[in-house]
Amino acid sequence: MEKLEQLYEGKGKKLYKTSDSKLVISEFKDDLTAFNAKKRGSESGKGALNCKISSEIFKLLEKNGIKTHYVETLDDNLMLCKLVEIIPIEVVVRNIATGSLSKRLGIKEGEVLPFTLVEFYYKDDSLGDPIINDEHALILKCVSSLEVLDKLREIGRKVNDVLRPFFDSKNLNLIDFKLEFGMCDGEILLADEITPDSCRFWDKDTNEKLDKDRFRQDLGNVKMAYEEVLKRILG
Ligand code: TMP
Repeated sequence: MEKLEQLYEGKGKKLYKTSDSKLVISEFKDDLTAFNAKKRGSESGKGALNCKISSEIFKLLEKNGIKTHYVETLDDNLMLCKLVEIIPIEVVVRNIATGSLSKRLGIKEGEVLPFTLVEFYYKDDSLGDPIINDEHALILKCVSSLEVLDKLREIGRKVNDVLRPFFDSKNLNLIDFKLEFGMCDGEILLADEITPDSCRFWDKDTNEKLDKDRFRQDLGNVKMAYEEVLKRILG
């Protein structure tokens, strides 16, 4: 399958048409952005690492009954996916407090949450992706009904129930992650990517951060961290 006309360019990926109107090619970029793209960088090879990591995770989720847009991995940084209509909500699932949760509510960084927290953010760069509740999501027409929001929460928790023990077995603590969903033939599919750009992973022994926080916080060795995550996934 070949890349045809470019459909879209986001911060982390480009999307191309293919000869099949129901399939697109997602090209993972080496670019890194943080804080709503106020901070920018690039790591050669990051796109290919993220493509491999996301492919492995989508395959694992499919095996566990979670429907995704993943079709197959084509090349270094190219993934064949089903074309979906993206729901403009970022679904964030948190096991341990850090990042914006700690900043917003003062919950101590590293505190284990009493239950898995699922939050919705409105996907709009010009507004800085603000946190929203169910009623905001309905008013903004992100979804057609409260049932869809319940379904997103349910799938988010199911993804966590698969990924948390999987990464635990790789000596990684899955701290939190962000999911995006799309509609395809009336079905909700898990879309976008699941990578160290969109998740937080801490080494279980040392609490070393092995994700995009290395870029956000200028900790160095960004690519090494992503390589380590892929090595453990495949190991
Ligand atoms: P946060 O603590 O900054 O809200 O991030 C929560 C999780 O969501 C974390 O795993 C990083 C991920 N995330 C994204 O994938 N994209 C984003 O734009 C933001 C803000 C967070």
